[in-house]
Amino acid sequence: MSMDSNLTPRMIVEELDNYIIGQADAKRTVAIALRNRWRRQQVKGDLQDEILPSNIILMGPTGVGKTEIARRLSNLVEAPFIKVEATKFTEVGYVGRDVESMIRELADRSVRMVRQEHEEKVQERAKELARERLLDVMLSPEPTQELKPDEDSSDTDSTESSTRTKFREKLKEGRLANREIEIDVKKDHSSPMLKVFGPLGMEEMGMNLQEMMSGLTGKQRKKRRVKISEAEELLCKEEAAKLIDMDTVTKEALKRVENAGIVFIDEIDKVASRSAKGGGGPDVSREGVQRDLLPLVEGATVTTKHGMVRTDHILFVASGAFHVSKPSDLIPELQGRFPIRVEMHSLTENDFYLILTQPKNALLKQYHALLKAENVNLEFTDDAVLQIARTAARVNDEVENIGARRLHTIMTTLLEDLLFECDGSEPKDISMDADEVQSRLDSIASNKDLSQYIL
Ligand SMILES: Nc1ncnc2c1ncn2[C@@H]1O[C@H](COP(=O)(O)OP(=O)(O)O)[C@@H](O)[C@H]1O
Ligand SMILES: [Mg+2]
Repeated sequence: MSMDSNLTPRMIVEELDNYIIGQADAKRTVAIALRNRWRRQQVKGDLQDEILPSNIILMGPTGVGKTEIARRLSNLVEAPFIKVEATKFTEVGYVGRDVESMIRELADRSVRMVRQEHEEKVQERAKELARERLLDVMLSPEPTQELKPDEDSSDTDSTESSTRTKFREKLKEGRLANREIEIDVKKDHSSPMLKVFGPLGMEEMGMNLQEMMSGLTGKQRKKRRVKISEAEELLCKEEAAKLIDMDTVTKEALKRVENAGIVFIDEIDKVASRSAKGGGGPDVSREGVQRDLLPLVEGATVTTKHGMVRTDHILFVASGAFHVSKPSDLIPELQGRFPIRVEMHSLTENDFYLILTQPKNALLKQYHALLKAENVNLEFTDDAVLQIARTAARVNDEVENIGARRLHTIMTTLLEDLLFECDGSEPKDISMDADEVQSRLDSIASNKDLSQYIL
């Protein structure tokens, strides 16, 4: 159904391991929560409705992978996913961002996701139809035609159809891909959007207004001269859109939001106030955000432009550093709705070493690839990597602990000269060793004042 039934908790953890070092508890917890959603959907009868998601709070210092876990999770599961910053709802006057807007956005994403899946299913048929439309244009009896049917022939029909067959074959084999053709295509809707901001849910209205206006201006088609290969793609998209039934898509999408949707609320600690200060101010607005969140987490019905969405079974994952405040500083009703708390750990020198080298997107791999573009082959000796990790841990200790983010600042400082000098003029092999790392970083790292600004 809506979620990949093959994704066991173990496999989810393994996937996350490709990108995130350590944090085994957090990975296990989110993996179980995800699998539970699928398990719940296998439950028959009334009981299914009774099984509530076990919402999670990820706690841990900054830069240890909280957001990263959420980000990777969203790529992993075929479930509508949205990440919001709790603090964005504290803005004065709300600036048109009511809490329910995240459910609307989630519904939009779900519709987009399901529509794409449906379109993929009709791909083959859409391609065929697109080719027929291309043939219509290519064989049209207008002066701009690419090919004239033989006028002398008494049997125009059969000539045309045999020419058509021939060209259909050629199209299929892609032999005409580079020829140009003029086609009529729908204007794409990625053109700048007219946004109307207003109180409570007016973004939606803005969207509708925009759709109305584009309806009013009438013709949404324009002629374009493009390569046949591109024309085929454009027409295929149009045909696919016509082949799918949007009612079915919408229905499925809403069902998927309700049963599989995931909302990640980042920085929830920032709206947890140490209460009992009284007297209005930011605390009131923070608590206000929690009060607004509560109905969504407890289960409410939100009106979206696709239809009503019940939030009872949406999974909420919240995260925060909880340095100043504690989960117990959240309003009690909200605390109760986040029964699972996982602590994420501070990263050590050894973690940094692994983060630099192991993940699929490891920083060292990124810089290696970047410099490849300049014909430079940049390698680090093992000692050099250790030295970088050591420096990161030290600066985190002495200045401020910003976790793995420190690696980014250190790497840019370390490689700045190289990144500036390389111009692709000649192929180079560069091997950086521990001494070099030390000489480039030590003078800065050992000066606390200096490293505050640079590292
Ligand atoms: N455990 C980890 N493994 C790999 N990379 C990490 C880890 N923790 C943090 N990072 C990297 O550090 C950066 C910040 O991490 P992030 O998840 O945004 O921190 P936070 O915990 O504050 O949300 C990201 O680039 C991320 O890839
Ligand atoms: Mg974060």
